[in-house]
Amino acid sequence: MVNLVDKYREMKKRGEKIAALTAYDYPTARLLDESEIDIILVGDSVGMVVLGYEDTTPVTLEEIVHHTRAAARGTKRALLVADLPIHTYDTPEQAVITAKRLVEVGAQAVKLEGGVSRVAQIEAVTGAGIPFMAHIGMLPQNVREEGGYKVKGRTQSEIDALLADARAVEKAGAFSVVLEIVMAKIAEQITRAISIPTIGIGSGENCDGQILVTHDLIGLFPWFTPKFVSPEARVADEIRKATRAFVERTRGTPPLSKRSDD
Ligand code: KIV
Repeated sequence: MVNLVDKYREMKKRGEKIAALTAYDYPTARLLDESEIDIILVGDSVGMVVLGYEDTTPVTLEEIVHHTRAAARGTKRALLVADLPIHTYDTPEQAVITAKRLVEVGAQAVKLEGGVSRVAQIEAVTGAGIPFMAHIGMLPQNVREEGGYKVKGRTQSEIDALLADARAVEKAGAFSVVLEIVMAKIAEQITRAISIPTIGIGSGENCDGQILVTHDLIGLFPWFTPKFVSPEARVADEIRKATRAFVERTRGTPPLSKRSDD
């Protein structure tokens, strides 16, 4: 397997920004891939924007396996990363088994949530030769315990914990780290403090890269858009427009019983 740690460290040194988006199916992965995205993530956000769950915690490994297979078929040049769902990495041994399952179906790297508290899992995964992307800051798999999606890095103890997490995941062998809704100044501080790239989501522009849920970027989940997203398209409106046009065209076709040409 390619040494992604070196590759991504070099990209960061050269100041090359990394663009990452989610995809959970063949056409989306193929469209992103053809548009030169660097990283495609089969995120457990699939649970919310595709499967209709309230948050990511009901997502199962079999669901991620199914979506990773589909996204892998559409991915030729981007790096395909798959998420380990909640409770599929409770121990280091389980993390390796889960990660291997995702690699078997086409993932080239995996991601799980947590920093210092997950070092044993991360070391086990990287020790098994599987490229690993870390995820610190707000951890959506903890949303129920935390009572919402709360910005991280507001207090000194949160800042210290974030820096410790970032250093820990770098040391454990991650090739990059997602910073989710971290105060922009703190995301910048973390970006300066470590040598692997930081990939921000709602964490300001001074990260080494950015990641978004594609549905948010293209306006395909109009019932909720995170505050930090500026959609580039309104695909939901296009779907509604096309559907209404089809409904009207179908209803406007006279039934056979009313046709005079019979
Ligand atoms: O599941 C997901 O889509 C993610 C990104 C938001 C980083 O983890």
